[in-house]
Amino acid sequence: MKRKRVGVLVLSGLVLATAAGLAVGPAAAGEQPAPDAVATGHGHDDPVIVGHRGASGYRPEHTLASYELAWRMGVDFVDVDLVPTKDGQLVARHEPEIGGTTDVADHPEFAARRTSKVIDGTKLTGWFTEDFTLAELKTLRAKERIPENRPNNQLYDGRFPIATYQEVLDLSRRLGRELHRTLGTYPEVKHSTYFTSIDNPIEPKLVALLNRNGLNRPGAPVAIQSFEVSNLQALHRQVRVPLLQLTEASGAPADLVAKGDKRTYADLVSPAGLREIAKYATYLGPDKSQVIPLDADENPGSPTSLVADAHRAGLKVAPYTFRNENPFLPANLRSSESPTAYGNVFAEEAAFLKAGVDGFFADQPDTALESLHDFLGR
Ligand code: G3P
Repeated sequence: MKRKRVGVLVLSGLVLATAAGLAVGPAAAGEQPAPDAVATGHGHDDPVIVGHRGASGYRPEHTLASYELAWRMGVDFVDVDLVPTKDGQLVARHEPEIGGTTDVADHPEFAARRTSKVIDGTKLTGWFTEDFTLAELKTLRAKERIPENRPNNQLYDGRFPIATYQEVLDLSRRLGRELHRTLGTYPEVKHSTYFTSIDNPIEPKLVALLNRNGLNRPGAPVAIQSFEVSNLQALHRQVRVPLLQLTEASGAPADLVAKGDKRTYADLVSPAGLREIAKYATYLGPDKSQVIPLDADENPGSPTSLVADAHRAGLKVAPYTFRNENPFLPANLRSSESPTAYGNVFAEEAAFLKAGVDGFFADQPDTALESLHDFLGR
């Protein structure tokens, strides 16, 4: 089914949405709009590169500095994972536990907040955003998650505060005016079932933020992601921006597990499962191994039928996550045993583009754009 699109004209820093194709209510099943193509010189149907956690290959993830670098490198969209604070603000972190990505352990005033929780069946110990007010979180500073792979990024440890989603949106507008481009976000609702269970749900806060920022409309530069299903199905009735169903290579969505629904991610990516997803989502965001699996020696095998199956169901496909460093690459593309050195990520990204993906998430947006330009011959 043909998707409705809204053109965006960028003129002297003014972003004018054309009326053509504007829907007046939630899109009908199977007709979710795609986020608008933007002024990159790419066409509407060109693959979309999403800066994963910003430009997390170069800066501590999910900081304004990481997002700004990604946008300045040329991508139009950044991936923004969202978790709530104790006082109901949405902040950009990959998970509620912040011991691995901030200096919270160095703050004696927060030592007593260290605790253990079970989230989606996994026991975690550390400090959790939902136990801190935004003002308290603002006293912390971000640090590099994987210094063993990205030692140079530690240069930036301690420099950048935790950002709210509102601050990310403010930056997108400010920078968009400077760069004369529409800059967008792919917010991801993290641990939906868990946060709902503790009476601090993410979805109503996200919808309120989109409404407040004029972003709950077809053509807005936003696509909402989740690894869960029920929340996306509910959001489909509440928002007019596209949705992206994330899937993992194994296991099952936490909401389905909680409800006793036996469906797994493998069921979701079956042809019948994909047709169900297409009723509420525009995109499928699979683990990259679901598109091109690795064999026992960690070398790439043949592409699965997932891209073709998803396209047949009317879904676009944007796998995650592409990273330049050796340990994240197939064995045959590694340059050495070094965990910090880059391997031949161009070959990996080219293989996925050739397999027909409609975009992908990358920690090094500049490298990914180079791959895209090669693929498009521009
Ligand atoms: O959002 C796409 C991809 O980022 C999903 O993985 O774990 O980084 O949220 P994760």
